[in-house]
Amino acid sequence: MNVPNHIAIILDGNGRWAKAKGMPRSYGHVKGCANLETICDDMKELGVKYLTVYAFSTENWKRSREEVDGLMKLFRNYLKKCIRISEKNKMRVKVIGDIRAFDQDIQDKIRELEEFSKDYTELHFQIALNYGSRDEIVRGVRRLAQDAVDGKLDPQKIDEKVFESYLDTAGIPDPDLMIRTSGELRLSNYLLWQMAYTEFYFTEVPWPDFNKEELIKAIEKYNERDRRFGGVKEEKQNV
Ligand code: FPP
Repeated sequence: MNVPNHIAIILDGNGRWAKAKGMPRSYGHVKGCANLETICDDMKELGVKYLTVYAFSTENWKRSREEVDGLMKLFRNYLKKCIRISEKNKMRVKVIGDIRAFDQDIQDKIRELEEFSKDYTELHFQIALNYGSRDEIVRGVRRLAQDAVDGKLDPQKIDEKVFESYLDTAGIPDPDLMIRTSGELRLSNYLLWQMAYTEFYFTEVPWPDFNKEELIKAIEKYNERDRRFGGVKEEKQNV
């Protein structure tokens, strides 16, 4: 089995999963968070090198105060716990998104975790928090334009590589496979630039139930598609 180098996941369906069990949405998020820990172990075991998860979008602030507060509490606990997880998995953790919107203590925990894990290379784990692809692109363009105005960047030298270096994902290879759980068939403003050539896999399984077996199914599907092109990348095939 050819294992993708980089898998991106839209973690969807925590709320519906909890509702189906007659439980509050917050219960779904707690289970979703626990599942994130398990899936990191599975990714490492399978040999996936990069994992990027969509945990909180720029749109998610519009949810009820109660739900947002619950998620913040979950992030606080998880970020603390993640130091131990990064050590166990030799996993480098980075947060993508505009973290300035979070309370200072959350921002500090993120920086601490990134600093603590910066030399690990077994698994590169990106967590998208207050992330939206359009917002990422606009923030990147703002910095790029400022560098041009300041004379640090020649506008004629701007190409795809230069542009990419201004994105939150600078230095991270593009995803090979994107998985969205829980049945919706949308990208929801996730990694729009980075997923130009990514294979998509949509499943009805809600995030809290997405386990190693489901992950292997997704990778097998990815392999079937890859074989159709004889493992040769799309651009080389001119299709
Ligand atoms: C989508 O389910 C999930 C979220 C908006 C939050 C994702 C958060 C986690 C998996 C937990 C914690 C993550 C970290 C990084 C600590 P939904 O609420 O949109 O479900 P629904 O579509 O059924 O309503």
